[in-house]
Amino acid sequence: MRTQVGIVGAGPAGLVLAHLLRLEGVESVVLEARSREHVEHRVRAGVLEQGSVDLLTETGLADRLHREALVHHGIELRFAGRGHRIALSDLTGGRSITIYGQQEVVKDLIAARLTIGLPLLFEAEAVGLDGVGSDRPTIRFRHEGAGRELECDVIAGCDGFHGVCRDSVPDGVLSAFTREYPYGWLGILAAVAPSSDELIYSNHERGFSLHSLRSPELSRLYLQVAQEEDIGEWPDDRIWAELQVRLGLDGWTLHEGPILEKGVTGMRSFVIEPMQHGRLFLAGDAAHIVPPTGAKGMNLAIADVRILAEALVRWYRTGDPAGLDGYSEACLRRVWRAEHFSWWMTSMLHRAPDTDAFDRKLQLAQLEYVCTSEAAARSLAENYVGLAHV
Ligand code: FAD
Ligand code: PHB
Repeated sequence: MRTQVGIVGAGPAGLVLAHLLRLEGVESVVLEARSREHVEHRVRAGVLEQGSVDLLTETGLADRLHREALVHHGIELRFAGRGHRIALSDLTGGRSITIYGQQEVVKDLIAARLTIGLPLLFEAEAVGLDGVGSDRPTIRFRHEGAGRELECDVIAGCDGFHGVCRDSVPDGVLSAFTREYPYGWLGILAAVAPSSDELIYSNHERGFSLHSLRSPELSRLYLQVAQEEDIGEWPDDRIWAELQVRLGLDGWTLHEGPILEKGVTGMRSFVIEPMQHGRLFLAGDAAHIVPPTGAKGMNLAIADVRILAEALVRWYRTGDPAGLDGYSEACLRRVWRAEHFSWWMTSMLHRAPDTDAFDRKLQLAQLEYVCTSEAAARSLAENYVGLAHV
């Protein structure tokens, strides 16, 4: 098999890239290790920045999104027994966030690609890359029980944090920057109407919790737990009891309902530099991870491939490699801004196991400042909705 751009991974990064390239007449093949059923039902992120929504809208992918998604103009920070609204839109000249599950974005992208019959292979696992330093790189993959090869001009490694593309870069080329956090998130999806119209980020002395939602009938909630927490230790009753304590506020009721899905995710910050080597370009979680507190993961993946698609189109049209050469540098500016914001939100809202009274007082002072200073609130808001100019 041969194509122009070989894309490994059908997450948001790989699928948006394939779509943007198709619109400009560049050919690609997408290889995805898991089944269509699996990727369409993997519950993950839910917050789209304005810039991500704009991109999906401009490229004809947002019809269902605009019918079903929920636009939010604020979030709540809850601490010390009080709730404070951060008026995102008022503070950012009218920008907003949109609640639409990552798996819904993925479903829309898969449908768009398969409807026009373009190549997207499920259960096609890349096992290795060859010749990324040459102008004929190849992806080795397994499909329908056989070993196969895809020869390309360029490979886009969109295969997430645990993929194979990053590891195919020779030792010594990439530098990795990491931070592990001594906690994880236990996330649930529950068949119950959301208890609030807006997201609630709560700093409680027993640990962080988050109230989010997916639709008028579906709530999504998270609890800070240990990084390697055994989900078996968390029967539904215990999850609700803990959420009631951590989110509790006089005059406000957390509605409970059947839990449809639950899982634990560890939290880390991770960046590799550069995000490219030879004819291999890494995008999304393959190149960087943020803790979910800033709701940036899926948005960064989409922002990377927008830059990569533009660079590839310019190269194919004019032979000018400047966009491709500058890909990593262009992405990393936004990546590090998001890394800082996500780390800052995480540090302000979670309870570290070794925290002492001094740390706690600092967190509360910071939260108090964000909720009383317009300058501080605006800084949070502009990062949360996504910085247009980075
Ligand atoms: P992915 O979505 O991970 O897509 C990569 C794709 O590559 C996958 O479909 C994978 O199956 C495929 N793949 C991997 N290896 C191979 C291979 N060898 N060959 C072929 N295909 C391969 N962010 C938030 O903001 N909020 C959250 O609540 C949140 N929860 C998350 C929960 C989990 C368990 C994870 C892993 C991430 C979560 N994130 C969350 C982060 C967000 O979902 C990611 O940032 C986003 O998915 C990045 O998109 P991506 O396309 O780069 O990677
Ligand atoms: C979600 O709805 O899944 C969600 C919302 C906000 C976050 C992380 C996850 O910061």
